[in-house]
Amino acid sequence: MNPRLKAPEMKLPAEYEAEVLENPVFIDRRRFMNYCGWVGILGSLAVGSLGMLRFMFPRVLFEPPTAFKAGFPSDYSVATVDTRFVNSHRVWIIREEKGFYALSAICTHLGCTPKWLANENKFKCPCHGSGFRRSGINFEGPAPRPLDRYKIVLSEDGQMLVERAKAFRHEKGEWTKPDAYLFV
Ligand code: FES
Repeated sequence: MNPRLKAPEMKLPAEYEAEVLENPVFIDRRRFMNYCGWVGILGSLAVGSLGMLRFMFPRVLFEPPTAFKAGFPSDYSVATVDTRFVNSHRVWIIREEKGFYALSAICTHLGCTPKWLANENKFKCPCHGSGFRRSGINFEGPAPRPLDRYKIVLSEDGQMLVERAKAFRHEKGEWTKPDAYLFV
């Protein structure tokens, strides 16, 4: 080996040398590398275990059930927009003289929840200003189409059953389909 390439020997200052020799916790380089190896292995095991836990308990988005009972027709007054299911199911129940329809409270622009403004007789989306008539038809703002209506039928116990998995779209002529409107 070329003597010129030999690493210079480290020499501690004399005042530290005695201290280092006496100090029992002094860690030499080899032991230090050993510890690093163990730390690496234990760290990898910990990360692997966390990954396994994540696999066993995946993040799941819990959505409200798609079907829900909306009470008895007699619970509603004629000519009202009922907002009691907006927070839980994002649905308005509209009571007309002849019957009911269930209107989606999901804006057809980007999915915000419009508000029912009884004084102005319209739904107004707070996000970008889309407006919808009581029927669900859009008339202002960027919303490209009317709100959806959902299937609404009478269940065996006489309560109304709203099924959000079945939507009816006005632009496809579906609002006239039987379950899009509940006659009473
Ligand atoms: S999300 Fe309703 S107007 Fe944009």
